[in-house]
Amino acid sequence: MTTARPTRRGILGAAAAGSAGAVAAAFTGTSAAADDRDAGPTPPAAFPFEGAHQAGILEPRQRAAVFVSFTLTCGDRDRLQQALRTLTSTIRYLTTGRDVPYDGMASTAYENGVLGTRIAPDGLTVTVSVGAGLFDHRFGLEKVKPSQLRQMDEFPNDALNRALCDGDLLLQICANNQDTALHALRVIMRATRADLQVLWRKEGFTSPPRPGGTPRNLLGFKDGTANREFAGDRALVDRLVWTRGGHGEPAWVEGGSYHVVRLIRMFVEFWDRVSVTEQQRMIGRDRDSGAPLAGSSEFDVPNYARDPYGNVVPVTAHVRVANPHDGSADDQRMLRRGFNYSDGTDPNGQLDMGLIFVCFNQDLERQFVTVQKRLVDEPLVDYISPFGGGYFFALPGVRNREDWLGRGMFA
Ligand code: HEM
Repeated sequence: MTTARPTRRGILGAAAAGSAGAVAAAFTGTSAAADDRDAGPTPPAAFPFEGAHQAGILEPRQRAAVFVSFTLTCGDRDRLQQALRTLTSTIRYLTTGRDVPYDGMASTAYENGVLGTRIAPDGLTVTVSVGAGLFDHRFGLEKVKPSQLRQMDEFPNDALNRALCDGDLLLQICANNQDTALHALRVIMRATRADLQVLWRKEGFTSPPRPGGTPRNLLGFKDGTANREFAGDRALVDRLVWTRGGHGEPAWVEGGSYHVVRLIRMFVEFWDRVSVTEQQRMIGRDRDSGAPLAGSSEFDVPNYARDPYGNVVPVTAHVRVANPHDGSADDQRMLRRGFNYSDGTDPNGQLDMGLIFVCFNQDLERQFVTVQKRLVDEPLVDYISPFGGGYFFALPGVRNREDWLGRGMFA
C-alpha cells in the first residue's frame, strides 16, 4: 500500500512547480471567492497561495488561529533571504492538499502525522508579517523599513508585558480546524529552526454563527459586523487596507498592510455580573441581535445624528467612539480580524480569556492609532486589559513561482 504514496521529493517538487492549485482543486472542488466575510458557515477549503496580496487578510475568518512571533537568529542578509525562501516554499506546500510523502520507516518523516496521510487544505492560510526588529543593523535593511513600523505603543490603561510584545517576524496561521493550524506551525518551525526562535505565541478561535451572522466574542457580543462594508468593495479595500509605495514609504510595501495584533484580557467573571442593559450601553449594540441600539438588525448603519446627547447610544459607547459615522472618521476605518482566546486560569484562579484583536491598515497612524487613542477612556476599559501584541507589516503577496515572501525588500 505504501508504494502508492508519493515521495517527499515528488511532492515538494510539485508544490514548488506550481501544481498546488490542481492538487488542491482535486481535494476540495471549491473556489476561493468569498465576499460575505464572517457571515457564512465554513469558509472555502482552499485559498490560492499566489497573488498580489497574502491570504489570511481579506478572507473570512477561519475557526482557529495561532499567532507566533519570532526573533530572527539568522546571522546575515543572505541567510535571511534563504529563510524567507524556505518559508515561502513551506507555506506553498502546506496550503495545498496532498498525500503525505512516504520515505520509508527508517527515515524521519517530513510531516508529523498529526493530520494523517491524506491532507486537505482545510482553509489554511499562513500570513507572514515583519516587525521593526527586522530593520535594525543586522541585515542592512534600515533604509527600507515601512515608515510607521515601530515597537508597539503603550496606551493609557495598557498593562503590557514586554516579553509578549513585538518581534522580528509574525506568523498568523489560520485554518478551519485547530490541528491543521498547529500542524502547519510544527512543519514551518522544523524547516526554519536554525533561523527563527519563538518569542511569544497565542492561540485563538472564532465561534460558529450563534444563531446566525457574525461570530461572537467572549463578552457575548457579535464582533466583526462592521467589516461587512469591505465585502466585495475593492475600491474601499484599496483605500483602507493595502499600503502604497511612495509618500515616505519604500516602493516594496505596495500590496502589503500594517498588521496590528493586541492581546487583550477580558475580565469575564466581572463582566458577567453586569446587567445586559449596562453591557449594551458600553458596547452600543444589542447583545442578542448585534443591531445598533437605535436600529433593528445587525447590519443597520447607526445614525447617531438623531441621538446627539446619547440618550439611546451613549456618546461613550465603544462603537460610537470607534466610528462616529459622521464622515469625520471614514478614512480611519480598519479591517478587523480578531479571534477569542482561552488559556486556563491565572494565579488567582480567575479565568484567563480574552480577545486577540487583529486589524489591517493602510496607514497605522491614521487608522489603528487614531482610533485607539479615542478609545482610551471608554467605559469598557474596566473590563479589559491589553497585555501584549505588536505592530507588524504583512508582506505583499507572492506573485509567481520565482517570487518569494519579502523579495522586494532586497531589490
Ligand atoms: C476586548 C476589546 C474589544 C472588544 C470586546 C470589542 C468589541 C466590539 C464590538 C462588539 C463591536 C461591534 C460589532 C462590530 O462591528 O464588530 C466592535 C466594533 C468596533 N471596534 Fe471593537 N472591541 C474591542 C477592541 C477594539 C480595539 C482595540 C479597537 C481599535 C483600536 C476597536 C475598534 C472597533 C471598530 C473600529 C469597530 C467598528 C465600529 C463601527 O464601524 O461601527 N475595538 N468592537
